[in-house]
Amino acid sequence: DEPALICVVAGDDAAPEVVWPTVEVLRRLVPELRFVRGSSGREAEERYGAAFPQETQELIDRAVCTLFGASGGPSRPVLWYLRWGKDTRVNIRPVRWQPGYRSPMREPEHFDFVIVRDNLEGMYPPREGDLAELAALASSRTWWQPPPVDRQGAYAVRICTDEQMAYVAQAACELALERKAQGYPGRVTLGAKYSIQPRTDGRFREIVRETVRRYGELEYQEFLIDDLARRMVAVPESLDVVVLSNEHGDILADMAAGCIGGLGLAPSGCYGPAYAYFEPVHGSAPDLAGKGVINPTAMLLSGAMLLDYLGYGEQARRLRKAVAEVYRRGQVLPPDQGGRATTEEFVAAVGQLL
Ligand code: NAD
Ligand code: IPM
Ligand code: MN
Repeated sequence: DEPALICVVAGDDAAPEVVWPTVEVLRRLVPELRFVRGSSGREAEERYGAAFPQETQELIDRAVCTLFGASGGPSRPVLWYLRWGKDTRVNIRPVRWQPGYRSPMREPEHFDFVIVRDNLEGMYPPREGDLAELAALASSRTWWQPPPVDRQGAYAVRICTDEQMAYVAQAACELALERKAQGYPGRVTLGAKYSIQPRTDGRFREIVRETVRRYGELEYQEFLIDDLARRMVAVPESLDVVVLSNEHGDILADMAAGCIGGLGLAPSGCYGPAYAYFEPVHGSAPDLAGKGVINPTAMLLSGAMLLDYLGYGEQARRLRKAVAEVYRRGQVLPPDQGGRATTEEFVAAVGQLL
């Protein structure tokens, strides 16, 4: 068996400061893994004359998956390629508090659910236009308020295909089944704006309902997205697998991360039929760049999801256990968790417990 090739695209601003230490940890856990470095952003512009050079695209293609830091702008074309170029249709964002995480909530132990986010459609990628282009709709009698095409302004397009919504719904059901086998309730919760967008979010509701019904052994609940946001804060223990559109998942994942203790703690994995990439929920944290104090937990836990994807479940467990133990002890914590450790010191503490 050829050992798996993994492409690493570190990204912009402070992101490389969590990516490279994570690669070191993964190397230690699974020495046979082979990593290749895909250059992007400013660094690639200097070396290759492009923010997303052909060389990097080829490395991403040759690899079985990619570890991505975050884009602060310059690396955005790489992120777009990892999503639409590699057809990574669902974004899995686990939300789980553990002892030592500095949560602002009174009972943070109730946060233990997973967001399943559409990774390709909805308001993404941006498709916007001039209001005047909607002239054909201006006289439509089915519109309560026709678009004011005689005024200056713009519109945005939201796309929801049956195929993609069904894929996301099925991924949520598969995950709920897997979690049920581990003792979770096996409950899929949909959040959407079906009251206002019947043809897109209403259709999403129909598809998710139907998919869950086909699975038989799963529970189902649905809430309007605004109410779901409240429930996420007030009764997080009622949630197991939460299925959301691209934009709703984007927003609620950051909110949920805030509930368990911040963006430094929230990992994610993006999966398609033939490829996957792993990135933290957070961005490039430009305010922390160069300071050496960005919390690497989200990136390390994204690395654990990568190990699971490649079939190294035992090593993924060891990594998660070591991270949990550092938090449980509470002696070496980064500033966002109330400590004074540098990124390097935190990773070293994890490394000692591997
Ligand atoms: P951000 O997530 O980068 O930062 C928000 C806040 O959280 C900042 O105060 C930051 O310091 C803090 N934070 C983030 N990660 C942290 C960590 N690991 N440890 C400690 N603190 C952390 O979001 P932003 O500031 O809104 O965006 C910055 C850039 O990142 C923007 O260009 C945005 O588009 C981009 N972004 C990229 C991705 C991605 O590539 N997947 C995701 C989100 C945002
Ligand atoms: C995320 C980010 C991205 C998104 C940005 C960088 C385009 O916020 O991965 O959550 O909105 O999907
Ligand atoms: Mn986001």
